[in-house]
Amino acid sequence: MKTVLITGGNKGIGFETAKQLGNLGYEIYIGCRHKYKGQEAVENLKKLGVNSIDWIELDVADSKSIEQAKIQLASKIDSLDILINNAGISGTQPQKFCINNIETLRNIFNTNFFGTVEVTQQFFPLLEKAEQPIIINISSEVGSLEIHSSTGKDPNLEIWSAYGASKTAVNAFTVMLANELEDTPFKIFSVTPGYTSTDLNDHQGTKTVEEGASPIVEIATQSNNFTSGKFYGEQGEVTW
Ligand SMILES: NC(=O)c1ccc[n+]([C@@H]2O[C@H](COP(=O)([O-])OP(=O)(O)OC[C@H]3O[C@@H](n4cnc5c(N)ncnc54)[C@H](OP(=O)(O)O)[C@@H]3O)[C@@H](O)[C@H]2O)c1
Repeated sequence: MKTVLITGGNKGIGFETAKQLGNLGYEIYIGCRHKYKGQEAVENLKKLGVNSIDWIELDVADSKSIEQAKIQLASKIDSLDILINNAGISGTQPQKFCINNIETLRNIFNTNFFGTVEVTQQFFPLLEKAEQPIIINISSEVGSLEIHSSTGKDPNLEIWSAYGASKTAVNAFTVMLANELEDTPFKIFSVTPGYTSTDLNDHQGTKTVEEGASPIVEIATQSNNFTSGKFYGEQGEVTW
């Protein structure tokens, strides 16, 4: 049975991804920063038919927590087939760069970018033991520089400046890591769920979590149909 770790798996798109992959027979571990949320999510996933499900305590913005989580997971499994770097925050508003509070920017990058990189680094030895390891970095269209520069000044995108920049950095991580690992069995992807109704956007998103999780599950289960180092969404490849 293939093993999957999904960070921030207690709600939203991460929870739905755990449900869909769990129902396909994968062995699921969700990373959660609060014990009660982890336990509750596991109970709920079991009720939704996921048989192989467990949680580990993991705050992606805390180096000690990431290290402890790695030790905990390594005591449960010999290898990790799929890492889904899903945990993320949108941060407080306003997010215009001319007025942005630098602390907002630091907090968002700490979770969305540094968290993604550090989790990947700590779990790398477990991933290396899998036959064809897959890393999926959850990104967003608002991280696409091409979309920003071709759309021009767009008030809908502008309010997500700091969050968008953190996802641009995640995309850079995907490309550079894929290049570093080109001659290995690793496959690395950026994937956007699209604008999905979750707590992250006060449920303003237009897609359901089922729809949002769908491209993530497709790439996790059919990675051979996709090119490592690329950015994908519901409609296929997304422009950088
Ligand atoms: N919703 C969208 O429209 C959309 C679009 C594009 C990309 N995305 C991306 O999709 C991913 C999932 O977002 P979502 O929409 O499902 O949001 P969500 O419902 O708010 O879920 C976010 C998850 O991340 C967790 N998290 C946040 N900070 C964390 C930390 N420091 N350590 C561990 N877990 C942490 C949250 O845990 P707590 O419950 O403890 O807060 C929660 O489980 C994010 O990377 C987001 O940027 C979302």
